[in-house]
Amino acid sequence: MINYTPEHVADCARFLQDKGIIQSTIGIVLGTGLGAFTREMEIELTIPYQEIPYFPTSTVEFHKGQLVYGSIGSKKVLAMQGRFHYYEGYSMQQITFPIRVMKALGVRYLFLSNAAGGMNPSFKKGDLVLLDDHINLQPDNPLRGMNDPSWGQRFVDLCAPYDGHLNALFEMKASELKIPLKKGVYVAVMGPNLETRAEYRWLRNTGADMVGMSTVPEVIVANQVGLPCAAVSVITDECDPDNLKPVNIAEIIEVAGKSDKTLSLLVKAVMGAC
Ligand code: HPA
Repeated sequence: MINYTPEHVADCARFLQDKGIIQSTIGIVLGTGLGAFTREMEIELTIPYQEIPYFPTSTVEFHKGQLVYGSIGSKKVLAMQGRFHYYEGYSMQQITFPIRVMKALGVRYLFLSNAAGGMNPSFKKGDLVLLDDHINLQPDNPLRGMNDPSWGQRFVDLCAPYDGHLNALFEMKASELKIPLKKGVYVAVMGPNLETRAEYRWLRNTGADMVGMSTVPEVIVANQVGLPCAAVSVITDECDPDNLKPVNIAEIIEVAGKSDKTLSLLVKAVMGAC
């Protein structure tokens, strides 16, 4: 396991700068089945993760695994097409390394998307839900271990993990574009199995509206490094413990794919305004 230091981040940022990633305003992490956003970009560079120093490579076959750099209007955007998950066997430090690199590259705002199971009974397949808050039930933390003071605070405050200004922009643009956007609390679990009926019942009782296997580690690190962030879930399955139907991952990807275009348009509008 690599114990990352600020030097690893600086090396990686230098490598990407040498490739031509010189100025990025917005970073975005594209989740399961949500890769279409890059079609909205004027792409200048695509770099597979295998070529990037210290980057893990995506082991999930439907995650593309490349960094895409380009513009949306006047904004320079750095998109991670495919993210890393703890269930793949990576450490929390590996999963969140790209967020530190984005910060080093001058990224000022971070957006994240994910596929999630809807536990709030009013959430339906294909719904877009803005994260209002989260509950972290993953068994590790990206801030565990030695904390170089240059990373940021040791005890990171998470009283508002999702930026109020960005969330307000999401709500404003969704209403302008007439895109229905709900709000909810995301609970992060380790995965990779989906939950039992009893687990969904319990997770719902914790106060969560949707459940997924990602996003929270990146958000914790974004808060440590002072990167305002916002995240949107696409509800891919309805997790009613009293009426639970078997789902498979292919179906989850298909549902996410159907909402991909709408989410991309919404994110593009928000990017134009921030
Ligand atoms: N549980 C956990 N992660 C998920 C789910 C789920 O039901 N759906 C999509 N990602």
